[in-house]
Amino acid sequence: MTRALSVAMWSIYRLLVFALAAASGVTPVHLLEFCPSAGPDCHSDDDAASTSRSSQRAVKSRWNGNVSELIQDLDQFRVSCKKLLEVFPIDEVSGNFVHTVKNCIFSKSIPTPLKGPLSLAAVSKDVIEGILDLDVAVTQSTDFRLYASGGRLLPGSEPLAHRYGGHQFGYWAGQLGDGRAHFLGQYSNRKGEIWELQLKGSGKTPYSRSGDGRAVIRSSVREFLCSEAMHFLGVPTSRAASLIVSEEPVIRDKFYNGNVKTERGAVVLRLAKSWFRIGSLEILSQSGETDLLRKLLNFVIDEHFPSISSNDPDKYLVFYSTVVNETAHLIGQWMSVGFAHGVCNTDNFSLLSITIDYGPFGFMESYNPNFIPNTSDDEGRYRIGAQADVGLFNLEKLLSALSPVFTHKQQEEAKIILKGFVNIYQMRIHQIFKAKLGLLGEEEEDSYLIPFLLQMMEDTESDFTMTFRQLSEVSHLQLHNRNFAQMWALDDLSTHQHFSDWLNMYLLRISRQQNDGDVNRQNRMKNVNPRYVLRNWMAESAIRKAEMNDFSEVELLHHILSSPFVTQETAEEAGYAARPPSWAQRLKVSCSS
Ligand SMILES: *[C@@H]1O[C@H](CO)[C@@H](O)[C@H](O)[C@H]1NC(C)=O
Ligand SMILES: *[C@@H]1O[C@H](CO)[C@@H](O)[C@H](O)[C@H]1NC(C)=O
Ligand SMILES: *[C@@H]1O[C@H](CO)[C@@H](O)[C@H](O)[C@H]1NC(C)=O
Ligand SMILES: *[C@@H]1O[C@H](CO)[C@@H](O)[C@H](O)[C@H]1NC(C)=O
Repeated sequence: MTRALSVAMWSIYRLLVFALAAASGVTPVHLLEFCPSAGPDCHSDDDAASTSRSSQRAVKSRWNGNVSELIQDLDQFRVSCKKLLEVFPIDEVSGNFVHTVKNCIFSKSIPTPLKGPLSLAAVSKDVIEGILDLDVAVTQSTDFRLYASGGRLLPGSEPLAHRYGGHQFGYWAGQLGDGRAHFLGQYSNRKGEIWELQLKGSGKTPYSRSGDGRAVIRSSVREFLCSEAMHFLGVPTSRAASLIVSEEPVIRDKFYNGNVKTERGAVVLRLAKSWFRIGSLEILSQSGETDLLRKLLNFVIDEHFPSISSNDPDKYLVFYSTVVNETAHLIGQWMSVGFAHGVCNTDNFSLLSITIDYGPFGFMESYNPNFIPNTSDDEGRYRIGAQADVGLFNLEKLLSALSPVFTHKQQEEAKIILKGFVNIYQMRIHQIFKAKLGLLGEEEEDSYLIPFLLQMMEDTESDFTMTFRQLSEVSHLQLHNRNFAQMWALDDLSTHQHFSDWLNMYLLRISRQQNDGDVNRQNRMKNVNPRYVLRNWMAESAIRKAEMNDFSEVELLHHILSSPFVTQETAEEAGYAARPPSWAQRLKVSCSS
């Protein structure tokens, strides 16, 4: 094709794409949502970034060794709450009853033991050995089941429930707080990292409102599997160490339709470098507790943002700018794997920009910017394509929360920083989708090669994960010959009337990449386009078995999703990369948890 002709074609595509965008009422921010993902080495990059962050604050630890030095005896595993208890005032009212809490960051709250017998339904060896320095064999003991479910306190633990507030579905909701989670303590591991351990589903706290403080098997299996899966997809996230299932009856109205069912209680032992959220700052700001707001900010900056100097008069502004940047990147990574969080309220947005609070999340199957994982979210506020907008909204609330510590000038600068969010996100998304398509360098047409593909995917309801994966697996020749045997997602996509036009453009684009043969391109693409994600039907099938005390499928999924970029025989046999079974389409994700 001549240069002139291809330029002419570009303009047609550009028109096409913008016309489509206009027709569907897409605003500029929304356009971003057409493109999501991570550079070829996004996982390692982010891992490296988070590790270096913490290792700069390396803490001397008695472990400097290797596997043979893993802790064999749980009584030697110590956590500490000292640091937090020294820095922050504690709720003066004690006891696990619901009340309005003031002038503190935490309330003391003891977990309520679950009714046994208890079973270990799942365990993450990667977390147990790699983060907690424990020999995974200890998880087979009765003691572990007690420690990991709130039945016994780890040495050094003084459990706390965190006070926070938040904007829910766009409105200030006042005091929220850990309503069924207990912070157990911090653990300094042999790599010098500090991790905060938390139980979820461990009983009532002063923040339980009308809740019973419990979590059911269903939602706990989902959190365990998804947080681990996200980690291995290279997305910053909280981690899960174990899942304990009990015989304790828990009553839930699964679909909020009056159909009450007795389910069973479960507890996830989960970890993050920090559990502070935007809502942690908001509650202090909203109730005029400015000294405490400053204290919490200083703590978070000192502990988790080592590049910010505590003497910098602009430190809160630099902090804000870092959170804006990292949040844009995080949402970009969610989009790169088709992840919809489902409840992006400010209390579910981490100050460290990691994914936290796995509720009614979902991985998008057919590409659809209007995909909504929470079936009760009728307005679609948290649809996948709106996540960047919601991120922007939440960062605006963070700005308001910081207002009491900003000077007028800093306030104005913060507004400018916030405006930059869209740009950062757009650039990230562009980068991510270029990587997903195996594109090197930058060419003018890239900015519509990508939306054009997404538009075709939307029109043909092509599977998001498998379209990109199969594009990573085909050779140039196969593409050229449109030989898509067994490639069900590409088969769907190729029914689009403009598919040939797009394909020609794509083939030309990749053939212009010098020294980049099929193998290079395929390897690069296979490292950013997972073959397996936690589809709802997969989670649902594992949950049905788990509810009957068969945890084999939870284990299988956990194992497979630990290498989501690698084709695995057991996964293929289980149909995890195949067209979803027909019953999957009728599946509703329940939202009560
Ligand atoms: C682990 O520690 C043991 C004993 O201290 C030592 O002999 C061994 O070489 C170490 N292994 C690794 C991989 O560092
Ligand atoms: C923004 O965040 C990304 C991802 O963590 C990081 O790689 C990048 O360096 C950050 N940029 C700035 C200007 O801080
Ligand atoms: C997220 O936010 C909602 C509403 O603010 C809250 O009820 C919920 O506990 C949070 N976590 C999850 C897992 O949804
Ligand atoms: C799902 O959306 C509905 C409607 O907006 C909301 O009331 C509900 O809390 C959401 N579910 C969860 C688990 O947050």
